[in-house]
Amino acid sequence: MPTTRPSGRQLPADFLWGSATASYQIEGAHDEDGRQPSIWDTFSRTPGKVLDGDTGDVAVDHYHRVPQDVAIMKDLGLQAYRFSVAWPRIQPTGSGEFNQAGLDFYSDLVDRLIDAGIKPVVTLYHWDLPQPLEDEGGWANRRTALLFADYARKLAEVLGDRVHLWTTLNEPWCSAFLGYASGVHAPGVTDAAKSLAAVHHLNLAHGLAGRAIREVLGDDTPISITLNLHVTRAATEAPEDVEAKRRIDTIANEVFLGPLLGGEYPKEVFADTEHISDWGFVLDGDLDLIHIPLAVLGVNFYATGRVKHGTGPDLEPGTPGPDGHRVSEHTPWVGADDVEWLPQPGPHTAMGWNIEPQGLVDLLLELRDRYPNLPLAITENGAAFYDTVSEDGRVHDADRVAYLHDHIDAVGEAIEAGADVRGYFVWSLLDNFEWAYGYDRRFGVVRVDYDTHERTVKDSGLWYRELIRTGTVAP
Ligand code: NOJ
Repeated sequence: MPTTRPSGRQLPADFLWGSATASYQIEGAHDEDGRQPSIWDTFSRTPGKVLDGDTGDVAVDHYHRVPQDVAIMKDLGLQAYRFSVAWPRIQPTGSGEFNQAGLDFYSDLVDRLIDAGIKPVVTLYHWDLPQPLEDEGGWANRRTALLFADYARKLAEVLGDRVHLWTTLNEPWCSAFLGYASGVHAPGVTDAAKSLAAVHHLNLAHGLAGRAIREVLGDDTPISITLNLHVTRAATEAPEDVEAKRRIDTIANEVFLGPLLGGEYPKEVFADTEHISDWGFVLDGDLDLIHIPLAVLGVNFYATGRVKHGTGPDLEPGTPGPDGHRVSEHTPWVGADDVEWLPQPGPHTAMGWNIEPQGLVDLLLELRDRYPNLPLAITENGAAFYDTVSEDGRVHDADRVAYLHDHIDAVGEAIEAGADVRGYFVWSLLDNFEWAYGYDRRFGVVRVDYDTHERTVKDSGLWYRELIRTGTVAP
């Protein structure tokens, strides 16, 4: 895949360069040192849910390889590392007792990062909910949000001011809709009403956790949330196609942006979903609790979508997206049943996702216009390709280099046009467990041999190192 955008653009000198991972995707050690099952342990053990029956039991063995992995980050010149904490590792049942061994693991990781000159960016929830909480309703149950605040408070006490930036949730859209509507992610529930309750309780969890962290560490503590805002275009300007796009924007983006940044739900969502839920789970005072000041909004970006008025997806809920398709297109879109997703022109990655860096420019400029005082960070961006190891033992992943080149150039363009983007985190540091796709899809800038767990920096990793060194997007 050749690059499609110019080379040579300079990113700001104080721009923060990092990479990202998530606990269940890399740690393994699923039953060690007191960790108990999360919803992903349960889900991945359920036949038919994950490609090839893969699980995160061993993953890429990061739990036992922290010194080596931090050394790799240092060698790449990373300035920040975004990782997530496994709730069931530090509070195995999701309430009550904390597990000292789990707390020590993350405390040690943070110390090692700081020693290596790398800023720790901590995500509190990247999808591994303790299973006992799911047994009581999971994110459809308000209590989960309250317990999440206790968990956040404990982490704030233990990790304290060593953390550069706290991120409450990663992609709550996925937790709510892939988890409780389409069921292609854990816990695999297919109940549209519950997915809307999950949206609200995730938003509430964010607000309560952010408040708890600030109670411990002070009002200035930098809090963020990471969203996978959908960049969706209407196929034509016909009113019904524009309305299809509006429906998606509402249920995918505005149900988060509205309460998080504006203190209210978009009123359209109540009409769009009135046949599904009366939203009685929103209690008086909740929106004030949710609406806390954010230090930065995390933006994850991979691809774009295109919709028209139509018949909607005809997949049965719970059916994993077929190989090569975007899982999200196979979500029964809650309150948007008459929206049809159109295939996007290529090129595509191994996920079947289209490559359109202009979508990232458009998104960042829209956020600039709507929230001019809100700093942004690209907390994930990257691509899966079917990498091969060459005879020289290296991975010449030119496609991934081109993808990163074009998207980082897009970030630079948006910054020059006034978007306040402070950093970029490549997804991912390491090849890892790609959720419903198991180990089949590789996103790393470092290859992992899944038999030996040996790590090899790919060409994309070397390219990224040079980018960080120079601050310039090179060919
Ligand atoms: C977003 C998720 O946060 C991450 O866990 C996942 O691996 C990437 N997208 C790629 O699908």
